[in-house]
Amino acid sequence: MPGFSAHYSQMVMPDHINIVGTLFGGQMIAWVDLAAAKVGFRFLKGTELDGAVTRAIDKVEFKEPVYLGDWVSFTATVISAGSTSFKIKVEAYAESRHSKPRLACVASVVMVAVKKDNDGNYHKSTHGKSC
Ligand SMILES: CC(C)(COP(=O)(O)OP(=O)(O)OC[C@H]1O[C@@H](n2cnc3c(N)ncnc32)[C@H](O)[C@@H]1OP(=O)(O)O)[C@@H](O)C(=O)NCCC(=O)NCCS
Repeated sequence: MPGFSAHYSQMVMPDHINIVGTLFGGQMIAWVDLAAAKVGFRFLKGTELDGAVTRAIDKVEFKEPVYLGDWVSFTATVISAGSTSFKIKVEAYAESRHSKPRLACVASVVMVAVKKDNDGNYHKSTHGKSC
């Protein structure tokens, strides 16, 4: 796997559906954020940092509706790194029993590395990583 990537999958269950019978967009964004968090975890492995938090979701595009019973597979990739931040592209493919995977959602997420200081609070911290 080139660079830093992570995969994450979810099945669409009845609790995830909106009033028009498709996947609720806010639920999709929560899963996008989790996929980004997973690659963030991997990106920061081996550092002295305590984790990363979402600073921005720059862009989310819902390209195709997603239905009850579909599997949604996320690929999250670190595409650039700053001093404390790093940018992640997330793609979500939806797959139903009778169709091939289709690109349902794309998003761009910025995460910031954090460290817990002696005061018990988390502060941004340089990660020293590149991609
Ligand atoms: C994340 C946090 C610690 C950053 O602290 P801050 O003082 O706001 O930090 P800055 O404004 O200096 O930004 C930090 C980095 O993010 C980048 N950044 C900030 N806003 C950005 C935006 N809208 N888009 C892209 N990058 C952004 C900055 O350029 C900087 O990058 P660099 O250090 O790599 O050069 C703080 O904003 C925070 O706690 N936010 C809440 C996070 C949260 O609760 N998320 C949801 C739950 S995970």
